[in-house]
Amino acid sequence: MKYVMPIETINSEFKAHGHLAHHFDSPRQQFEAAKLGMWLFLGTEVLLFGGLFCLYAVFRGNRPELFTFGSQYLDTTWGAINTVVLILSSCTMAIAVYCAQTNQKRELAVFLGLTLFFGLDFLGIKYIEYSHKFHDNLVWGTGLYETPPHEAYQLLLRRQEEAGAALPSLEPGDPKRGRKQYLATCLPCHGAQGQGLPGLGKALNTSHFVAERSDEDFLQFLQVGRPIEDPENTSGVAMLPRGGNVRLTDQDLMDIIASVRTLQANVGDVITDPADGAKSILITASTIPFAAPGPSGFHLPDNDAISESSSASQNEATSPRLDPNRPRDLHLFFSIYFLLTGLHGLHVLIGLIVIAWLLVRTLLGHFSNAYYTPVDLGGLYWHIVDVIWIFLFPLLYLIH
Ligand code: HEC
Repeated sequence: MKYVMPIETINSEFKAHGHLAHHFDSPRQQFEAAKLGMWLFLGTEVLLFGGLFCLYAVFRGNRPELFTFGSQYLDTTWGAINTVVLILSSCTMAIAVYCAQTNQKRELAVFLGLTLFFGLDFLGIKYIEYSHKFHDNLVWGTGLYETPPHEAYQLLLRRQEEAGAALPSLEPGDPKRGRKQYLATCLPCHGAQGQGLPGLGKALNTSHFVAERSDEDFLQFLQVGRPIEDPENTSGVAMLPRGGNVRLTDQDLMDIIASVRTLQANVGDVITDPADGAKSILITASTIPFAAPGPSGFHLPDNDAISESSSASQNEATSPRLDPNRPRDLHLFFSIYFLLTGLHGLHVLIGLIVIAWLLVRTLLGHFSNAYYTPVDLGGLYWHIVDVIWIFLFPLLYLIH
């Protein structure tokens, strides 16, 4: 709405400018006050992101391996394109401000439009990147450690195809190889010595079920598991097919069976770990309930042991979950990635809304060289959003 002043107060400066609020003496004073306010706001933005960069520094200092490993899974090409796109958008924004200052209204609209276009590109690419991450379960929580649905389904199909042909050609299980697979897949529920973990998996070392089954029957059991609906299920917790690890081949299962047999023992027996020869005494399962599984999920207990594994399934690593060199707590890297890029993306979105609003006002003829404060301030905001990305890109994507 235009502010109408008594005709006698209109001097040459005021005449060109219908936006002077009554508590300012001149348009220049009003402009500078607005700009100072914008800089104060940008100062708070710097504090906000500064705090988050500190968080980044602390985590990177303490756990550098998470960052070197995790950054492999970010798409540097898309990240670089986005950097270029944002720099271009900053250029067009700067030109737009120049056009406003020099009263080129049509050009102002064009360059605001271009800025809007580049900003939308940025968000589009962000969408592509994020959807790839979600598709592959590269997320901030325990989901990172789960097989993504599309992968699990493909593997199940392949295993089903193999099942018929592979059975007769299975070799007798190798307990040493099986031990590594056991540690990787079965340990979280059944414990290192097969003693069972309350609420997660039954004891295997004292299990009659294990003792009485032939290898073949045992294999069949592992192929299908034992759902909660199964009348034989006593714990109310499901034993998943292949212990929930669909990558285990039937041969892997034979190896695991051989290793489970070595755990068959009585309380008080001295047990030798077939993998490293370590000796320990078998004790009964503790009656103290375990704490709920933490966000680390089913991390591999011993990365070195797993990477030696000869199993072909280990070579199919397409996600960090299956990479034998995956550091523990990798989800922390993705937490920081999504926190920083997500908050930045939100700023881009807000910036775009502001620019769209500026564009509409430009088309309505609100701006001229006498009044362009919103364009100038919107430009400042857009530049800071840009600068933050210039820091985020190398800090997250370009670590080697
Ligand atoms: C997510 C947890 C989980 C994982 C991982 C898991 N199991 Fe189990 N398992 C269970 C549960 C729960 C039961 C008990 C089901 C019931 O109540 O009968 C069970 C039961 C069993 C039994 C039957 C024991 C008995 O006395 O009835 C065997 C054998 C077994 N699991 C072997 C394995 C092997 C080998 C692996 C690794 C490939 C494995 N499990 C991985 C949860 C798990």
